[in-house]
Amino acid sequence: MSFKGSMETYRLFIEEYLENFYSRFHAEPQKPLYDSIQYSLLAGGKRLRPILCMEFCRICGQDWKAAAPFAAAIEMIHTYSLIHDDLPSMDNDDFRRGRPTNHKVYGEAMAILAGDALLTDAFLSASEAKLTCPEDMSRAIALLSTCAGSSGMVGGQVLDIMSEERQISEEEILNIQSRKTGGLIRAACGLGAIAGGASPEQVDAACRFADNLGLAFQIRDDMLDVIGTQEEMGKGVGTDETKNTFVRLYGLPKCEELVQKYTADAIQALDLFEDRTFLTELAENLTNRRV
Ligand code: IPE
Ligand code: IPE
Ligand code: MG
Ligand code: MG
Ligand code: MG
Repeated sequence: MSFKGSMETYRLFIEEYLENFYSRFHAEPQKPLYDSIQYSLLAGGKRLRPILCMEFCRICGQDWKAAAPFAAAIEMIHTYSLIHDDLPSMDNDDFRRGRPTNHKVYGEAMAILAGDALLTDAFLSASEAKLTCPEDMSRAIALLSTCAGSSGMVGGQVLDIMSEERQISEEEILNIQSRKTGGLIRAACGLGAIAGGASPEQVDAACRFADNLGLAFQIRDDMLDVIGTQEEMGKGVGTDETKNTFVRLYGLPKCEELVQKYTADAIQALDLFEDRTFLTELAENLTNRRV
Protein backbone atom coordinates (compact mmCIF):
# COMPACT_ATOMS: atom_id res chain seq x y z
CA MET A 1 0.00 0.00 0.00
CA SER A 2 1.16 3.57 -0.65
CA PHE A 3 2.34 5.77 2.21
CA LYS A 4 -0.78 7.93 1.89
CA GLY A 5 -3.00 4.85 1.80
CA SER A 6 -1.46 3.45 4.99
CA MET A 7 -1.79 6.82 6.77
CA GLU A 8 -5.46 6.95 5.86
CA THR A 9 -6.09 3.34 6.90
CA TYR A 10 -4.52 3.92 10.31
CA ARG A 11 -6.31 7.24 10.79
CA LEU A 12 -9.77 5.95 9.90
CA PHE A 13 -9.29 2.86 12.04
CA ILE A 14 -8.32 4.78 15.18
CA GLU A 15 -11.11 7.35 14.69
CA GLU A 16 -13.64 4.53 14.64
CA TYR A 17 -11.95 2.74 17.52
CA LEU A 18 -12.11 5.85 19.71
CA GLU A 19 -15.77 6.42 18.86
CA ASN A 20 -16.63 2.80 19.67
CA PHE A 21 -14.66 2.92 22.92
CA TYR A 22 -16.97 5.57 24.36
CA SER A 23 -20.16 4.03 22.96
CA ARG A 24 -20.12 1.58 25.92
CA PHE A 25 -21.02 4.49 28.24
CA HIS A 26 -23.96 5.79 26.21
CA ALA A 27 -26.60 4.85 28.78
CA GLU A 28 -24.85 6.68 31.63
CA PRO A 29 -26.48 9.87 32.94
CA GLN A 30 -23.39 12.12 32.98
CA LYS A 31 -24.00 13.02 29.32
CA PRO A 32 -22.40 16.51 29.39
CA LEU A 33 -19.11 14.86 30.35
CA TYR A 34 -19.27 12.53 27.35
CA ASP A 35 -20.27 15.40 25.06
CA SER A 36 -17.24 17.35 26.26
CA ILE A 37 -14.91 14.35 25.84
CA GLN A 38 -16.15 13.55 22.33
CA TYR A 39 -16.03 17.20 21.31
CA SER A 40 -12.24 17.21 21.67
CA LEU A 41 -11.44 13.55 21.07
CA LEU A 42 -13.35 13.26 17.80
CA ALA A 43 -12.46 16.70 16.44
CA GLY A 44 -9.81 15.46 14.04
CA GLY A 45 -6.17 15.97 14.83
CA LYS A 46 -3.36 14.31 12.97
CA ARG A 47 -3.49 11.11 15.07
CA LEU A 48 0.30 10.99 14.85
CA ARG A 49 0.78 9.07 18.11
CA PRO A 50 -1.68 6.23 17.36
CA ILE A 51 -0.24 5.93 13.84
CA LEU A 52 3.29 5.57 15.26
CA CYS A 53 2.06 3.05 17.80
CA MET A 54 0.32 0.81 15.28
CA GLU A 55 3.17 1.02 12.77
CA PHE A 56 5.78 0.01 15.38
CA CYS A 57 3.61 -2.97 16.25
CA ARG A 58 3.50 -3.95 12.57
CA ILE A 59 7.23 -3.64 11.94
CA CYS A 60 7.96 -5.70 15.06
CA GLY A 61 5.99 -8.54 13.50
CA GLN A 62 2.40 -8.47 14.78
CA ASP A 63 -0.92 -7.47 13.27
CA TRP A 64 -1.02 -3.69 13.80
CA LYS A 65 -4.57 -3.89 15.14
CA ALA A 66 -3.13 -5.59 18.25
CA ALA A 67 -1.74 -2.17 19.25
CA ALA A 68 -5.10 -0.37 18.93
CA PRO A 69 -5.97 -0.39 22.68
CA PHE A 70 -2.56 1.20 23.40
CA ALA A 71 -2.82 3.59 20.46
CA ALA A 72 -6.27 4.75 21.63
CA ALA A 73 -5.02 5.13 25.21
CA ILE A 74 -2.19 7.42 24.09
CA GLU A 75 -4.50 9.52 21.91
CA MET A 76 -6.85 9.89 24.91
CA ILE A 77 -3.98 11.04 27.14
CA HIS A 78 -2.77 13.38 24.38
CA THR A 79 -6.28 14.87 24.02
CA TYR A 80 -6.53 15.41 27.79
CA SER A 81 -3.14 17.15 27.71
CA LEU A 82 -4.40 19.51 24.99
CA ILE A 83 -7.66 20.31 26.84
CA HIS A 84 -5.72 21.17 30.00
CA ASP A 85 -2.92 22.96 28.08
CA ASP A 86 -5.53 25.34 26.61
CA LEU A 87 -7.14 26.28 29.95
CA PRO A 88 -7.04 29.94 31.05
CA SER A 89 -4.67 29.00 33.87
CA MET A 90 -2.27 27.41 31.38
CA ASP A 91 -1.85 28.67 27.78
CA ASN A 92 -5.29 30.33 27.70
CA ASP A 93 -6.02 29.43 24.09
CA ASP A 94 -9.34 29.78 22.29
CA PHE A 95 -8.98 27.49 19.31
CA ARG A 96 -7.96 23.84 18.94
CA ARG A 97 -8.42 21.19 16.26
CA GLY A 98 -10.38 23.62 14.14
CA ARG A 99 -12.94 24.57 16.79
CA PRO A 100 -13.25 26.67 19.96
CA THR A 101 -11.33 25.10 22.85
CA ASN A 102 -13.15 22.72 25.19
CA HIS A 103 -13.49 25.17 28.10
CA LYS A 104 -14.93 27.84 25.77
CA VAL A 105 -17.83 25.53 24.96
CA TYR A 106 -18.31 23.43 28.11
CA GLY A 107 -16.84 25.69 30.79
CA GLU A 108 -13.68 25.22 32.82
CA ALA A 109 -15.02 22.69 35.32
CA MET A 110 -16.24 20.33 32.62
CA ALA A 111 -13.03 20.76 30.60
CA ILE A 112 -10.94 19.81 33.63
CA LEU A 113 -13.16 16.80 34.30
CA ALA A 114 -13.15 15.72 30.65
CA GLY A 115 -9.35 15.75 30.82
CA ASP A 116 -9.38 13.80 34.09
CA ALA A 117 -11.75 11.22 32.59
CA LEU A 118 -9.73 10.84 29.38
CA LEU A 119 -6.56 10.25 31.37
CA THR A 120 -8.19 7.63 33.55
CA ASP A 121 -10.24 5.93 30.82
CA ALA A 122 -7.01 5.60 28.83
CA PHE A 123 -5.88 2.94 31.28
CA LEU A 124 -9.11 1.02 30.72
CA SER A 125 -8.34 1.04 27.02
CA ALA A 126 -4.74 -0.05 27.60
CA SER A 127 -5.94 -2.91 29.81
CA GLU A 128 -7.82 -4.33 26.84
CA ALA A 129 -4.69 -5.06 24.80
CA LYS A 130 -4.22 -8.75 24.05
CA LEU A 131 -0.47 -9.25 24.14
CA THR A 132 1.32 -12.32 22.85
CA CYS A 133 3.33 -12.24 26.05
CA PRO A 134 0.92 -11.15 28.86
CA GLU A 135 3.84 -10.25 31.16
CA ASP A 136 4.56 -7.38 28.76
CA MET A 137 1.47 -5.58 30.09
CA SER A 138 3.29 -4.35 33.20
CA ARG A 139 6.22 -3.15 31.05
CA ALA A 140 3.76 -1.25 28.84
CA ILE A 141 1.85 0.35 31.72
CA ALA A 142 5.08 1.37 33.44
CA LEU A 143 6.33 3.03 30.25
CA LEU A 144 2.98 4.74 29.59
CA SER A 145 2.71 6.15 33.12
CA THR A 146 6.34 7.26 33.19
CA CYS A 147 6.06 9.03 29.84
CA ALA A 148 2.76 10.73 30.70
CA GLY A 149 3.18 11.50 34.39
CA SER A 150 5.20 13.64 36.75
CA SER A 151 8.57 12.94 35.17
CA GLY A 152 7.20 12.84 31.61
CA MET A 153 4.62 15.04 29.88
CA VAL A 154 3.18 16.58 33.06
CA GLY A 155 6.69 17.23 34.38
CA GLY A 156 7.55 18.93 31.09
CA GLN A 157 4.46 21.13 31.29
CA VAL A 158 5.48 22.18 34.81
CA LEU A 159 9.04 23.01 33.71
CA ASP A 160 7.55 24.92 30.75
CA ILE A 161 5.50 27.10 33.13
CA MET A 162 8.44 27.52 35.53
CA SER A 163 10.66 28.72 32.69
CA GLU A 164 8.35 31.53 31.57
CA GLU A 165 9.68 35.08 31.77
CA ARG A 166 13.31 34.12 32.16
CA GLN A 167 16.10 33.22 29.78
CA ILE A 168 16.81 29.51 29.58
CA SER A 169 19.75 27.53 28.25
CA GLU A 170 19.85 25.11 25.36
CA GLU A 171 20.14 22.21 27.78
CA GLU A 172 17.07 23.36 29.68
CA ILE A 173 14.86 23.73 26.63
CA LEU A 174 15.86 20.29 25.38
CA ASN A 175 14.99 18.82 28.76
CA ILE A 176 11.62 20.59 28.90
CA GLN A 177 10.57 19.70 25.37
CA SER A 178 11.77 16.09 25.57
CA ARG A 179 9.36 15.58 28.44
CA LYS A 180 6.50 17.81 27.36
CA THR A 181 6.14 16.59 23.79
CA GLY A 182 8.64 13.75 23.59
CA GLY A 183 6.96 11.87 26.44
CA LEU A 184 3.80 10.81 24.65
CA ILE A 185 5.61 10.20 21.36
CA ARG A 186 7.98 7.90 23.25
CA ALA A 187 5.01 6.10 24.82
CA ALA A 188 3.44 5.68 21.37
CA CYS A 189 6.52 4.13 19.79
CA GLY A 190 7.53 2.09 22.84
CA LEU A 191 4.07 0.63 23.47
CA GLY A 192 3.63 -0.12 19.77
CA ALA A 193 6.88 -2.07 19.84
CA ILE A 194 5.84 -3.91 23.02
CA ALA A 195 2.48 -4.84 21.43
CA GLY A 196 4.47 -6.12 18.47
CA GLY A 197 6.44 -8.49 20.71
CA ALA A 198 9.68 -6.50 20.35
CA SER A 199 12.95 -7.40 22.07
CA PRO A 200 14.25 -4.96 24.73
CA GLU A 201 16.78 -3.68 22.11
CA GLN A 202 13.95 -2.98 19.67
CA VAL A 203 11.93 -1.14 22.35
CA ASP A 204 15.03 0.96 23.12
CA ALA A 205 15.49 1.75 19.43
CA ALA A 206 11.79 2.70 19.13
CA CYS A 207 12.25 5.05 22.11
CA ARG A 208 15.39 6.57 20.56
CA PHE A 209 13.51 7.19 17.32
CA ALA A 210 10.70 8.78 19.35
CA ASP A 211 12.98 11.04 21.39
CA ASN A 212 14.53 12.54 18.27
CA LEU A 213 11.24 12.74 16.37
CA GLY A 214 9.65 14.40 19.40
CA LEU A 215 12.25 17.16 19.39
CA ALA A 216 11.93 17.70 15.63
CA PHE A 217 8.13 17.76 16.05
CA GLN A 218 8.15 20.38 18.84
CA ILE A 219 10.69 22.60 17.06
CA ARG A 220 8.41 22.55 14.00
CA ASP A 221 5.42 23.28 16.29
CA ASP A 222 7.23 26.35 17.64
CA MET A 223 8.11 27.42 14.08
CA LEU A 224 4.49 27.05 12.96
CA ASP A 225 3.37 29.38 15.75
CA VAL A 226 5.33 32.03 13.80
CA ILE A 227 5.03 30.95 10.15
CA GLY A 228 1.77 28.98 10.20
CA THR A 229 -1.85 30.06 9.86
CA GLN A 230 -4.86 29.29 12.06
CA GLU A 231 -6.72 27.85 9.03
CA GLU A 232 -4.00 25.28 8.39
CA MET A 233 -3.11 24.49 12.00
CA GLY A 234 -6.62 24.42 13.45
CA LYS A 235 -5.25 26.28 16.50
CA GLY A 236 -4.28 29.85 17.26
CA VAL A 237 -0.91 31.08 16.03
CA GLY A 238 1.30 33.84 17.44
CA THR A 239 0.27 32.80 20.93
CA ASP A 240 3.74 31.76 22.17
CA GLU A 241 5.03 35.30 22.75
CA THR A 242 5.78 34.89 26.46
CA LYS A 243 7.08 31.36 26.00
CA ASN A 244 10.57 29.98 25.83
CA THR A 245 10.24 28.40 22.41
CA PHE A 246 12.98 27.01 20.17
CA VAL A 247 12.34 29.92 17.81
CA ARG A 248 12.96 32.43 20.56
CA LEU A 249 16.19 30.70 21.55
CA TYR A 250 17.62 29.92 18.11
CA GLY A 251 15.73 31.92 15.44
CA LEU A 252 13.98 30.37 12.44
CA PRO A 253 16.96 29.39 10.21
CA LYS A 254 18.70 27.47 12.99
CA CYS A 255 15.37 25.82 13.87
CA GLU A 256 15.08 24.55 10.27
CA GLU A 257 18.53 22.99 10.62
CA LEU A 258 17.66 21.42 13.96
CA VAL A 259 14.47 19.88 12.59
CA GLN A 260 16.59 18.24 9.86
CA LYS A 261 19.21 17.09 12.35
CA TYR A 262 16.82 15.49 14.83
CA THR A 263 14.85 13.89 11.98
CA ALA A 264 18.05 12.36 10.58
CA ASP A 265 18.93 11.06 14.06
CA ALA A 266 15.43 9.59 14.39
CA ILE A 267 15.73 7.80 11.05
CA GLN A 268 19.13 6.44 12.04
CA ALA A 269 17.59 4.84 15.13
CA LEU A 270 15.44 2.73 12.78
CA ASP A 271 18.49 0.77 11.56
CA LEU A 272 17.47 -2.17 13.71
CA PHE A 273 14.18 -2.60 11.83
CA GLU A 274 14.00 -4.19 8.40
CA ASP A 275 10.79 -2.58 7.25
CA ARG A 276 11.34 1.13 7.88
CA THR A 277 10.02 2.76 4.68
CA PHE A 278 6.79 4.07 6.19
CA LEU A 279 8.37 5.54 9.34
CA THR A 280 11.17 7.12 7.32
CA GLU A 281 8.66 8.80 5.00
CA LEU A 282 6.52 9.89 7.95
CA ALA A 283 9.50 11.47 9.75
CA GLU A 284 10.59 13.25 6.56
CA ASN A 285 7.08 14.55 5.84
CA LEU A 286 6.81 16.02 9.33
CA THR A 287 9.84 18.28 8.73
CA ASN A 288 7.90 20.62 6.48
CA ARG A 289 4.41 20.07 7.79
CA ARG A 290 2.03 23.04 7.81
CA VAL A 291 -0.52 21.30 10.06
C1 IPE B 1 0.03 19.43 19.60
O1 IPE B 1 0.16 18.11 19.14
C2 IPE B 1 0.77 19.59 20.88
C3 IPE B 1 2.21 19.38 20.75
C4 IPE B 1 2.79 18.41 21.38
C5 IPE B 1 3.01 20.25 19.95
P1 IPE B 1 -0.30 17.73 17.69
O2 IPE B 1 0.25 18.71 16.70
O3 IPE B 1 -0.01 16.30 17.44
O4 IPE B 1 -1.88 17.95 17.78
P2 IPE B 1 -3.06 17.21 17.05
O5 IPE B 1 -3.24 15.89 17.74
O6 IPE B 1 -2.74 17.06 15.59
O7 IPE B 1 -4.26 18.11 17.28
C1 IPE C 1 1.93 21.49 24.64
O1 IPE C 1 2.85 22.25 23.98
C2 IPE C 1 2.34 20.10 24.70
C3 IPE C 1 1.43 19.38 25.59
C4 IPE C 1 1.87 18.56 26.48
C5 IPE C 1 -0.02 19.57 25.49
P1 IPE C 1 2.28 23.57 23.32
O2 IPE C 1 1.61 24.43 24.33
O3 IPE C 1 3.33 24.17 22.45
O4 IPE C 1 1.16 22.93 22.36
P2 IPE C 1 0.18 23.78 21.46
O5 IPE C 1 1.02 24.66 20.57
O6 IPE C 1 -0.72 24.53 22.38
O7 IPE C 1 -0.54 22.72 20.66
MG1 MG D 1 1.69 24.77 26.42
MG1 MG E 1 -0.38 25.35 24.15
MG1 MG F 1 2.92 25.12 20.51
